[in-house]
Amino acid sequence: MDTQKLAQTAKEVVSRTILAADESTSTITKRMATIGVQSTPEINRLYRQLLFTAEGIGDYVSGVILYDETIRQTTDNGVPFPQLLEKMGIVPGIKVDKGTTPIPQSGQDTYTQGFDGLAKRLIEYRELGARFAKWRAVYTIDLTSPSDISVQRNAHDLALYALLCQDAEIVPIVEPEVLMDGDHTLDRDEGVTQEVLKNVFLQLKKYGVHTQGIILKPNMITAGKKNAQQASVEQVAQITLETLKHIVPDNVPGIAFLSGGQSPDLATAHLNEMNKMKLKSEEKYPWRITASYGRALQGEAIEAWGGKAENVAAAQKVFISRAQKVYQASMGEL
Ligand code: 13P
Repeated sequence: MDTQKLAQTAKEVVSRTILAADESTSTITKRMATIGVQSTPEINRLYRQLLFTAEGIGDYVSGVILYDETIRQTTDNGVPFPQLLEKMGIVPGIKVDKGTTPIPQSGQDTYTQGFDGLAKRLIEYRELGARFAKWRAVYTIDLTSPSDISVQRNAHDLALYALLCQDAEIVPIVEPEVLMDGDHTLDRDEGVTQEVLKNVFLQLKKYGVHTQGIILKPNMITAGKKNAQQASVEQVAQITLETLKHIVPDNVPGIAFLSGGQSPDLATAHLNEMNKMKLKSEEKYPWRITASYGRALQGEAIEAWGGKAENVAAAQKVFISRAQKVYQASMGEL
């Protein structure tokens, strides 16, 4: 394994921002339903083409996560999406997990599927142009969740997945997502996120994963969505950075946050605040701090499009305007 090359690719992927356009068939079906459109592979292709051909995307986006369906699709002119992206200086990536499933007798706990044939699939995806991958572990907070079993199981799986990726010369995005669902406090979210991340980094080390060749994709630490007492932007930024500082090794090249259902404006503001704090104390936060947003980057654009060809240009403008803001936030420039 060429660890230098992995580290270089990871740096390239986080140099601007990452667009998560890797919605699974069931997730894209839900997203399309919100605008009254029935998802089909062709409709999905037209929508992804809208995003990937938006003028200026390469100025703000440095990585795009694709789904199995999308990595095999092309533009109207027959250019495969991975090639289109590479030409614009954007690194193509691929979601390789196959979604979550419940851990029986364990409340709301889940584990992530996708190990069957993974080593082979990684090689195929690499041949199709992917240079990085994503695997998402999910943790729900309630009275009994996440259980110790969930925390351990998901940490082992993220580590094994990351090792398999690096062995295939693919940079793994390691995504442990503590969900915002529920009415838990900011403190509870902090405690759970700390526990989850500590275990993930412990197993990454045990499995021999090179942390200079990974990208961490964590949640920001917030109170649960249903909690009336929401923290301020400064509090979220502060508590999130403090937690990461104590757990994430200095040689991790980048942290790319998920948006997790935050509004585009709030997700942008949180990212901006963290980068402002980083600018004030460079040596404290050694990693690049950026975004790997799905909904926060796409929400406004999909609405502006509404599935209509005549809205493509307007939707592309809306998308680029948000991508620019998120990029500026990743530099602490807003
Ligand atoms: P959101 O930013 O919508 O949370 O999506 C990011 C992602 O890729 C989740 O796996």
